[in-house]
Amino acid sequence: MPKIELLHVSKTFDEGKVVANDDVTLSIEDGAFVFLLGPSGCGKTTLLKLISGLETPTSGTILVGGIDLSKLNPEERSIGFVFQHFEIFPAMTVFENVAYGLVVRGYDDETIEKIAEEALRLVSLEGRMLAYPKELSTPELQKVGLARAIATRSKILFLDEPLGKLDPKIRKVFRHELRRLIKSLGLTAIQVTHDQEEAMAIGDQIIVMRQGKILQHGKPEDLYYRPGSIFVANFFGETNFLEGFVSGVGPDSCVFHLHLGGPKFEIKLQHGHQLKNHVQAIIGYRIEDVELIQTKQEEREPGEELDLEEKPRLNTVKGRVREAIFIGPMKRFIIDLENGDEIQAKHSSKFLIDIREGDEILVGFHENPMVFEYPKDIRAELSKA
Ligand SMILES: Nc1ncnc2c1ncn2[C@@H]1O[C@H](COP(=O)(O)OP(=O)(O)OP(=O)(O)O)[C@@H](O)[C@H]1O
Ligand SMILES: [Mg+2]
Repeated sequence: MPKIELLHVSKTFDEGKVVANDDVTLSIEDGAFVFLLGPSGCGKTTLLKLISGLETPTSGTILVGGIDLSKLNPEERSIGFVFQHFEIFPAMTVFENVAYGLVVRGYDDETIEKIAEEALRLVSLEGRMLAYPKELSTPELQKVGLARAIATRSKILFLDEPLGKLDPKIRKVFRHELRRLIKSLGLTAIQVTHDQEEAMAIGDQIIVMRQGKILQHGKPEDLYYRPGSIFVANFFGETNFLEGFVSGVGPDSCVFHLHLGGPKFEIKLQHGHQLKNHVQAIIGYRIEDVELIQTKQEEREPGEELDLEEKPRLNTVKGRVREAIFIGPMKRFIIDLENGDEIQAKHSSKFLIDIREGDEILVGFHENPMVFEYPKDIRAELSKA
């Protein structure tokens, strides 16, 4: 039985004028660590509040552990919650902050001490129990918020951008600690983040939301390599989109004609695709999957010929490097294709060190791009909001 199940859940505010969640159906298995991603205002926090019973849905059903949430009273809806704007009480010590929820719930002193100490030990703050919040670093404050959520002893934990205030280096270390902690306690967790890398690095699953709806829910690799829409491909990772039209459409391949009289090349299609001959389409390539091939003889080793036979499946288009930007281990290239399209590529700066601004090159596109039907509103699909 899934741990959390939502059936056609909607939530509106201001007499229906603001739609925060729009017909969300979702199932989360016991023990899964799920990340919730989406533009600001798309309804992430509201969704978590609905599942934790802090807000009531306008319509739909929420089941937690198979039980209808609306039938539970507030004390029974025990979900640990680390809020986006976490409130640590400044006049209370670390211990008192963690114990506060337990005091409110009427536990006896001995139990409170045991649970709060255990929670603080789990986040490695046992040595700071008597410190006041002003004496703590930001990561330590985040840990207090986490310990407070763990102290609820709920098997479900919600984290609304818990690492948001940490600096990037500490954040990268802390995220792995967080995953270990969640897995060792056997929790089912949902975390909101704006950091895609964090979601891919430690999440079992990722949900991408937009305008109150769930666009896609799956494993990180699936979302990255098989995004279901242009929006997801654009929001999640960096993608070059090429416009064109298709011909010779078969069950698993077609010819793609780059627009503005650009060259054409053969690409593979997924079985069951809906493309028809002579319609407009969009293909997508991750920026790290675009190959750059030097064409100038003097750039190659003596005696080495340009051998495209080695890469028989690579479709090539002429291009010119407009910018080559050194970003440490990687180099980002901005390239004007012969038909006027602009694309980007990102590769190890060491291996492509000889490709420079102004160079004429061949750009290699593999035969397995993401393929999308041309959307009704291309601008909306390519916006990140
Ligand atoms: N209590 C409320 N009253 C009125 N409108 C609300 C309320 N809570 C949320 N909203 C609105 O619902 C929508 C979704 O808000 P929500 O806070 O869930 O978004 P979010 O995805 O968490 O955004 P962010 O990434 O900025 O935290 C927004 O338009 C927001 O203004
Ligand atoms: Mg939010």
